[in-house]
Amino acid sequence: APAPASTFFIFGASGDLTQRLLLPSLYNLANEGVLSDDFAIIGVDRVEQSEEAYRAYLTEATKGLPGSCDVGGTTWSWLISRIGYIAGDFEDPATYGRIRERLEQRAGQTGNAVFYLAVAPRFFAAISEQLGAADLLKEAEGAFRHIVVEKPFGTDLPSARALNKRLLTVADERQIYRIDHFLGKETVQNMMALRFGNGIFEPIWSKEYIDHIQITAAETVTVEKRGRFYDATGALRDMVPNHMFQLLAMTAMEPPNSFDADAVRTEKTKVIEAIRHMKPSDAIGAAVRGQYRAGIVNGQAVKDYRAEQDVAPDSRTETYVALKCFVDSWRWNGVPFYVRTGKALSARRTEIVIQFKRAPGVLFRHLPTALKPNVMVIHVQPDEGVSLRFAAKVPGRKVRLSEVQMDFKYTDYFKAAPSTGYETLIYDCLCGDPTLFQRADTIEAGWEAVEPIIDAVAGGEDEVQFYSAGSSGPAMSDVMLAQDGFQWLSLERNRAP
Ligand code: BG6
Repeated sequence: APAPASTFFIFGASGDLTQRLLLPSLYNLANEGVLSDDFAIIGVDRVEQSEEAYRAYLTEATKGLPGSCDVGGTTWSWLISRIGYIAGDFEDPATYGRIRERLEQRAGQTGNAVFYLAVAPRFFAAISEQLGAADLLKEAEGAFRHIVVEKPFGTDLPSARALNKRLLTVADERQIYRIDHFLGKETVQNMMALRFGNGIFEPIWSKEYIDHIQITAAETVTVEKRGRFYDATGALRDMVPNHMFQLLAMTAMEPPNSFDADAVRTEKTKVIEAIRHMKPSDAIGAAVRGQYRAGIVNGQAVKDYRAEQDVAPDSRTETYVALKCFVDSWRWNGVPFYVRTGKALSARRTEIVIQFKRAPGVLFRHLPTALKPNVMVIHVQPDEGVSLRFAAKVPGRKVRLSEVQMDFKYTDYFKAAPSTGYETLIYDCLCGDPTLFQRADTIEAGWEAVEPIIDAVAGGEDEVQFYSAGSSGPAMSDVMLAQDGFQWLSLERNRAP
C-alpha cells in the first residue's frame, strides 16, 4: 500500500548520503509505486541556489552513480517534479520559518512531515532543538512529525545519553527514528523468519546445543576518504555497539509476542543489556584491536593506515576489532559470542556462524579424526543465504565420514528488486513503523557494553596489533579463539570443503 502523503525534508541536501543512498532509495520506492501522489521532498542546505539549480544538481549527481536511477525515465521525472529546496543555515531560526511556510503552502497535504538529518552528528541536537522551537514537531490533528537521525549516535555512553536527552526534550520517543542501516538488510530481517517461522531451529537454539557463535563483518574497503571521521572513531565505535550488536541481538533474542515495534525492540534490547560488562582490565584478553599495514586487497596495493589521508602518522586507532562477549541470560549462559569486524581484509563477508555441540563420538571412536561439530552459517552479505554443515558417510564398504554442506541461496528462489537497503527503512518511517529503528535504551545499552574497552584504550592499557591489508586480521584474534579451542570459521559455498 502507498505510504501516507507527506513532506520529506532532507537536512544535508547536497551531501554524500543524499546522493548515494537517499535519492536512489526514494527513486526505488517511487518505482514500486508506494509513494503517495502528494509526496514531496524538500532539500535543506546552506548552499544558496534555486530549486531549479538543485534539481539539475541532483540529476547530474545521480547520473554518475552506479545505482539504478534512470534519469531519462518516467519515474525520475515523477520524482524530480516533487523536489524542492530551501537554503538556510541549520542554526538560524529563519531557516525553520521557511520550512514552516513551505509546510503551510502545501495546501491539501495532511501536514505529515519527516525531517531526515543527513548531516554531521554535531548538528543532530541543534537541528532537533530548532525544529522543536519552531513548533515543527508538534503533531496537530493526526498529522505525524518524525525525525530521522543517522549514525553515529554519540561517541560513547555519556554523549549518547546526552543526545537522547536533548532529542527527548523536543520530541516523543515514538517520533524519533534512529537509523541502523543493517536493519534494512533483507537477511537481517530474515533472522526472525528463520528462527521463529520454523519449528526445527528454536528447540536447539540455546546453551544446551550451541557451543559458540561467531559474528563477522569483514570489509575489503579501506578508510578511503573518511580519515577525519574514522581516525577519531575506530572500528569499535563505528560498528560494534550498533551494527554488530544488532546482529547479535537478532541471533540471541527471545521470540517477541508480536510484530509490534516495542515488543520486538524490547526483546532485542534485553539481549544487549545482558551482554556482560567487562572490567577494563579484562578488556585486554577479551578484545583485540588491529590496524592495517600496507598490503594487497583484491589485487590492489593498499598503503599503511597511518599513511592514509587525514590519519595521524602515529595513530593508535583500530581498523579491526574482535571481542569475546557473553550474554548473561538463562538461554545463553556460558556460550561465547565472538564478534569481529575490520577494514582492508581479504574478503567482504558479513555472516553469523552458529557452531553446535559435537555429537557423542561413541559410534565413530575408531575413526582417525574426531567428529566435527555441525555448523550453520547465516550469510548476511554478499551471496545472501543459509548453509548447514554436517557429516555424511563416504560411499564404500568401510565406515568413513566426510563433511558435506547444504546451501540455501536467496537468488535461487527469489528475484530481488534493486535495493540500497534504505527503502524499507524510509517506507517504514513514512508509515510510522519504528520496529527497524533503534530505541534510546537500545543504543545506550550498546554503548554501556563497549564502554570498558573504550576506557581501557583511553587509559593506554592495550596495544593495537598490526595486520597486513588483504589478510584475515591480526594473529592475536586467532589466538583469542585458539585459547578457547576454537578457530574462526567461514564456509565457502558451491565447493566441497
Ligand atoms: C557504516 C560504517 O555504518 O557501515 C562504515 O560507518 C562501514 O565504516 C559500513 O563501512 C558498512 O556497511 P555495509 O552495508 O557496506 O556492510
